[in-house]
Amino acid sequence: MASWVFCIFLIFATLVTFDSVLVYGAGYTVPRAPTVYRPSAWRLAHATFYGDESASSTMGGACGYGNLVTNGYGTNTAAVSSTVFSNGYACGQCYQIKCAQSPWCSKGIATVTATNLCPPNWSKNSNSGGWCNPPRTHFDMAKPAFMQIAQWKAGIVPVMYRRVPCVRKGGLRFSFQGNGYWLLVYVMNVGGAGDIKSMWVKGTKTGWLSMSHNWGASYQAFATLRGQALSFRLTSYTTKQTITAYNVAPANWNLGLTYQAKVNFH
Ligand SMILES: *[C@@H]1O[C@H](CO)[C@@H](O)[C@H](O)[C@H]1NC(C)=O
Repeated sequence: MASWVFCIFLIFATLVTFDSVLVYGAGYTVPRAPTVYRPSAWRLAHATFYGDESASSTMGGACGYGNLVTNGYGTNTAAVSSTVFSNGYACGQCYQIKCAQSPWCSKGIATVTATNLCPPNWSKNSNSGGWCNPPRTHFDMAKPAFMQIAQWKAGIVPVMYRRVPCVRKGGLRFSFQGNGYWLLVYVMNVGGAGDIKSMWVKGTKTGWLSMSHNWGASYQAFATLRGQALSFRLTSYTTKQTITAYNVAPANWNLGLTYQAKVNFH
């Protein structure tokens, strides 16, 4: 008797489970395929290194990321020649670099983020010291990153490089600077293509305000936004995808603080 009841129960339970799966299936809308950044082809360039093993001299830099370790970039970073840097729009892009055709090569591949500019030096020949002079593509890598691909004694090595998607933990990060009438935002921890083309800010009492590119990875709005929760909308430089990060900063936001969104590029 007991086993018969249990049997009925099992059949019933299976039906209910099956039913709910069907209901779930019927109500489930397939999301639009998200834009995913794909790696580029491998190309030829050269790489050198700067700083020492601690990579302390790579902190700061022309992207404005400040302390690269506390801001999540670590020591796998590079200063890129102005041809790559594109006036700061390349900030945050990720590259895989491997040494090619040099006795100094090791087998490793380094994945680095562009965090700095390697400026031209026109007092040096482009093929003898003026490595970052346009139109050269050059990676001046943090020393720990360079040591993953070659012996540092090499000084300079030919490399193969390609753009790869940036794998970041969590959402976009927005670091606030400026003053009461001017909001300067550094955008960090950008996934996917890693770069930003345009940006907008919206306070709870304003519409979407276009922000202009300041330097590196920073964007500015000349507006009084104090006391309002802030949302941001960003367009990727490479993929042109736009995403919106709602209520990133609460109404009592402050300059000097960094706020993290829930969304990111992929
Ligand atoms: C450019 O190269 C010259 C010659 O080596 C050097 O003296 C100078 O400091 C360099 N300038 C910069 C900005 O690195």
